[in-house]
Amino acid sequence: MSKKQSYPGKFITLEGGDGTGKSTQARLLSEFLKEQHKDVLLTREPGGAPGSDDIRQLILTGEPERWDVVGETLLFYASRRNHLRLTVWPALERGDWVISDRFADSTMAYQGYGNQLGVEAVSKIHEVSVGDFEPDLTLILDIDVRKGIARTQGRTNNEDRFEKMDIAVHERMQQGFYEIADKNSHRCVIIDADRPIDEIQAELRKIVRERLLSE
Ligand SMILES: Nc1ncnc2c1ncn2[C@@H]1O[C@H](COP(=O)(O)OP(=O)(O)O)[C@@H](O)[C@H]1O
Ligand SMILES: [Mg+2]
Repeated sequence: MSKKQSYPGKFITLEGGDGTGKSTQARLLSEFLKEQHKDVLLTREPGGAPGSDDIRQLILTGEPERWDVVGETLLFYASRRNHLRLTVWPALERGDWVISDRFADSTMAYQGYGNQLGVEAVSKIHEVSVGDFEPDLTLILDIDVRKGIARTQGRTNNEDRFEKMDIAVHERMQQGFYEIADKNSHRCVIIDADRPIDEIQAELRKIVRERLLSE
């Protein structure tokens, strides 16, 4: 049901809490890789495929109580499944470099740790939906959660269902990302995101160069 790991392309994920700078950094990283003459697909979760974008609206808008943690996790994985099947896997098979603004570690951090469905339950759903497929590199942007959320305050879209949750939930998610990085040190790097955009980007490019471009 899932795909084996050896693709001609590379899969890079950007992870971290709200306002850590994932979307900003993902965009800049895609520009860098295009300059390196790579075919780049910049995508995001939830979303990035037919059906997945509809589910994005269901998950990210409305009141926090709209879904419970089980329902929300299943929606994330329904969205992720289409994203992989229709967008990510075909691109990797073509040899593209795929950059995803959030992926499965966000579900583990948010629903596994933050909203306390638990690591084991999320792992079971992950196993059925994704199997052993994983990113080649995961860049986890890290900042004090209050500072991150403050950065998102000027947003005009209504995709704020998670931003409205308690600060304690966000702090548990941050701890979750630390544990995920610890357990998956072969692919995860934690990046200090409380720095100027250019400085963070320079670090990301260095990591990508060393880990993936020198192969
Ligand atoms: N390093 C940074 N320092 C200051 N502001 C930043 C930084 N990175 C991003 N921002 C700003 O913070 C806001 C959130 O950034 P964004 O990339 O959308 O974060 P995310 O996708 O992680 O939620 C945007 O207004 C962006 O311009
Ligand atoms: Mg974003």
